[in-house]
Amino acid sequence: MLKTRHFLTLRDVDSDELAALVNLAQTLKQQRGSPDSPRPLANKSIGMIFSKASTRTRVSFEVGIHELGGQSMFLGIDQLQLGRGETVADTAMVLCRYLHGVVIRSHEHEGVEAFAACSSVPVINGLTDRYHPCQLVADLQTIAESAGRIAGVSVAYLGDGASNMANSWAVAASLAGVDLRIGAPVGYQPDAAMLEKLAGPGRVTVTDDPVAAVADADFVYTDVWVSMGFEEEAGDRLAVMAPYQVNEALLGQATPGVKVLHCLPAYRGKEIAAEVLDGPRSLVWDQAENRLHAQKAVLTALIR
Ligand code: CP
Ligand code: NVA
Repeated sequence: MLKTRHFLTLRDVDSDELAALVNLAQTLKQQRGSPDSPRPLANKSIGMIFSKASTRTRVSFEVGIHELGGQSMFLGIDQLQLGRGETVADTAMVLCRYLHGVVIRSHEHEGVEAFAACSSVPVINGLTDRYHPCQLVADLQTIAESAGRIAGVSVAYLGDGASNMANSWAVAASLAGVDLRIGAPVGYQPDAAMLEKLAGPGRVTVTDDPVAAVADADFVYTDVWVSMGFEEEAGDRLAVMAPYQVNEALLGQATPGVKVLHCLPAYRGKEIAAEVLDGPRSLVWDQAENRLHAQKAVLTALIR
């Protein structure tokens, strides 16, 4: 169903393909557990190379692969010769002789691109420092469930505007026709060159004013202020991002029915107030569940 061989960023799909992935995720959600739910990964094995921590991505991929009839193989970086200096290219050229697909969570996006360039089987980005595309399929599914549509909704993204999540949101909003306002401090705003390349129907604007970002927003999204790999910058980041906390006072500037999203893990009292994360506006548990359905859709569409 997808024209791309690999799913490394949302740039690998077009607007129609992204919409089809979200629809398929929703269908798979409804079919889950039924005896005739599809098993397109029967007799297929998917490797999962992870060099960063994960709760949702690892477990939802492993369960999703199993439900689609396949077997997953978790390959922590320290258990591979890759962790002892075998090259990325050699690893990719060997693993694609055994496996039918590979999910990679890594620091450097370029490393995943290098792996994919040497892999004859599909590679799925399970998060790099720059992009987290699987999360966005689940996020858009959650918005579609809540709002009944995706195109035309407004989303305020608050906090670290230069993160993998903000970058992924910019590409997704552009493709899906979302009005995305990124509210982030100067120094933590998206790369201008990346924004210039966006060519879809959506609109992406950037401000350092959190109130302007959330004005009339239908959804407010946030993520950790200190992403994996950026721990040494924690002190600076927590100080400069404090005004961007998603709390009840800030949500008062959004639409009355505003809903809140967070990819998780969350740090209550930092990027999001506990009463918001645990309150009635929060969609985060449905959002986390949707990782399972969204990734089953990606696997179904990509692994042939
Ligand atoms: N949202 C997300 O990717 O969570 P994990 O880091 O737990 O996989
Ligand atoms: N931006 C976060 C996302 C975690 C799912 C990180 O990279 O740590």
